[in-house]
Amino acid sequence: MRKRHAVRTRHVLAMATASLLALGVVGCESGSNTGDGGSGGGKIALLLPESQTTRYEQHDRPLFEAKVKELCPDCEIIYSNAQQDQSRQQQQAEAALNNGAKVLVLDPVDGAAAGTIASLAKSKGVPVISYDRLIQNAPIDYYISFDNERVGQLQGEALVNRLKEQGKTSGDIVMINGSPTDNNAKQFNKGAHSALDGSGFKTVPTPDYFTPEWKPENAQKFMEGQIAQLGKDGFAGVYAANDGTAGGAIAAMRAAGINPVPPTTGQDAELAAIQRIVSGDQYMTVYKAFKPEAEQAAQLAVDLVKGNKPTTDKTVDNGSGAIPSFLLEPVVVNKDNIKDTVVKDDLYTVQQICTSAYTAACQAAGLS
Ligand code: BGC
Repeated sequence: MRKRHAVRTRHVLAMATASLLALGVVGCESGSNTGDGGSGGGKIALLLPESQTTRYEQHDRPLFEAKVKELCPDCEIIYSNAQQDQSRQQQQAEAALNNGAKVLVLDPVDGAAAGTIASLAKSKGVPVISYDRLIQNAPIDYYISFDNERVGQLQGEALVNRLKEQGKTSGDIVMINGSPTDNNAKQFNKGAHSALDGSGFKTVPTPDYFTPEWKPENAQKFMEGQIAQLGKDGFAGVYAANDGTAGGAIAAMRAAGINPVPPTTGQDAELAAIQRIVSGDQYMTVYKAFKPEAEQAAQLAVDLVKGNKPTTDKTVDNGSGAIPSFLLEPVVVNKDNIKDTVVKDDLYTVQQICTSAYTAACQAAGLS
């Protein structure tokens, strides 16, 4: 604790003396030569996968940038977003390496294909931190994420418990998984099956459907097909892997005149999802606190730039060895604990959630 305090004090002093120039370069897509090398700074590449899911631009990126700024005022961030395009991410990673990046923090569009990026970085002696999604079968230095099987398990358990509360013990659950190229999507799926299989409910269709590129519109189209096939009353609930796909599924159910919609899961605690939870359109979401995840990644990246090698006792096997890992705990959010979770953590204010369309629902949910 004392050591932490001393380090913090140093950071605060460093912050105070940081030049405006150094602060100004954080967040540029490609940077200048300031602050490179030595014991002071260095370039850190942050490569995120997409922007249709709000977390990346609203939370991960700004939290990461702020923490790097605090820990290393002379560090420079090369930021890129691949907009769901793996070859674009490959180019962005190559550009960052050519531009002198000393560390890659990579959230891969395609966990298997990103192995090429990791190998290239390795050949240049640049460490790679696999951020949130696992880069598979390739040399990487660290992995920081959540317990992603647990995420799926929490979603599945919440759905079954809700259905039981409603007096149901059997029926079909339409299962909408994430992107087939995202290792997380497979883990969410595995965790969800561990809760749903043997619960009395049956997931449909078989084989499992994975949503190309995590796109809400793909989830919506898929759900339209399921409604056409099963009928409006033909299913008990919907397992949607994240809030984007939940939004698509709920839009399809609404458009078909299903009201109220059956219990539907989600993940990410997106503002729109929290509002749907308040209004009763979505049953739950999983909140994965972005702050500790992004800040842990920033801390690791700065340590690596400065030549330190942080240790951790957890490892995850990515197919090419045991990767030192940091795995955080996900939290279920439903109508009853919005205040104690996302509001308490300052993710959103009650005012942001309770816009005029939600005033009455917010009051009923005790949010005011
Ligand atoms: C992340 C989720 C996100 C999804 C779509 C997953 O890898 O863990 O938080 O909703 O990708 O971007």
